[in-house]
Amino acid sequence: MKNPFYGKSFVAINQITSPSDIDYIFKVADKMKKVIQDEKVYEPLKGKTVAVLFYQPSTRTFTSFVAAAKRLGAYVIDINEMTSFSSAVKGESLEDTIKSIYQTTGANAIVLRHPENTSSEIAASVQNIPVINGGSGTAEHPTQALLDLYTIYQKFGRLDNLHIMMVGDLKYGRTIKSLAKLIARVSKNSRITFVSPKELRAPKDFIKDLKGQVEVTQRSSFGTAIEDADVVYMTRVQKEWFEKEGKLDDYENLKLKFIMNKHVADRMKKDAIILHPLPRVGEIMLEVDNNPRAWYFEQMRSGLYVRMALIESILMK
Ligand code: NCD
Repeated sequence: MKNPFYGKSFVAINQITSPSDIDYIFKVADKMKKVIQDEKVYEPLKGKTVAVLFYQPSTRTFTSFVAAAKRLGAYVIDINEMTSFSSAVKGESLEDTIKSIYQTTGANAIVLRHPENTSSEIAASVQNIPVINGGSGTAEHPTQALLDLYTIYQKFGRLDNLHIMMVGDLKYGRTIKSLAKLIARVSKNSRITFVSPKELRAPKDFIKDLKGQVEVTQRSSFGTAIEDADVVYMTRVQKEWFEKEGKLDDYENLKLKFIMNKHVADRMKKDAIILHPLPRVGEIMLEVDNNPRAWYFEQMRSGLYVRMALIESILMK
C-alpha cells in the first residue's frame, strides 16, 4: 500500500481525500498499538528530530505527541510554553520562529499548536519540512479527528452507517469541526446530529459545506435523537474564546447547558459510546465514568497510536 502521508505536512482534514488514506493510517496505528502493548523497542526514527511547539495549553495532545515521537526513537525538542519562553514574547512572528527552530534544532518535522486558525498552513509554507497541526485556533484539530475516528473504528469495527451526535460548543470548538469533516469524507450512510444552544451553533458556511456530503441535523436539545445515536461526542464550552471577545457573561449563561449524567447516558443505546476530547469542565459527570458507554479514556490512548502512526508515515517511506 502506498504511503499517502510521506514527506507531507498534515494541517487540515481536507488532505484526507479517500477512505484508503484512513485504511492506511489505521493499519499503521494497529501496528503501533501492538508495539506499545507488547512493550517492544521499535525505533525506526533514530537520528530524526521532531520539534513539538505549543502556544496553547494542553495535557493529552502535547504528551501524546512527545511520547509518540520518543517511542519511535526520534530526538524530541518539546516546548509547551512557547507563549512565555520563546521570542514570541518579544514580538517575533510565527514565520521567523519556525525558520529559527528548523535552523537551531535541525528538526525533520514540527508539531504546532497555535491560537491562529491559519497557523499550521503558515508554518508549513515558510520552511520545507512537514508541519503537523496539533490544534489551530477554532478551525481544526485534525489529529484529534483521526484518533476520534480510530476509537470509533475500534468499538464498531466499521466507519459506515453510524449516527454521530456532537454536543456543546460547536461554534468555537475545533475538534468537532475536524471530526465532522472527516466523517463526511470517509464514512458512507452516516448521519451527524449537532446539539447546542443556538448561540453556539457551528458556523453557517461549515454546515453548508457538510450538508453537501453527509446528512446533518441541528438541534437545541438531546430529544429522542440521543436514543438513536451510536456515538455521543461531548465538548466543553470554550471559555478562552469568550474571554478573548470580552463576553464572559455569555459564557456563564451558556456553559453546562448540556450535561451527560447517568440518566442521559442510560437513555443511549446499549452499545453506544460517549466520547470527549477532554478537558471536561462539568459537562460529563463523574458518575458516568463507570458506565460501559464511557469511552473517553480509551479514546485518549488512541492518540498515542495514531500520532505514532502519523509521525512515522510522514518521516518514513
Ligand atoms: C481539545 C482542543 O484543544 O481543542 N483538547 C484536546 O486537544 N484534547 C478540546 C478542548 O480544549 O476543549
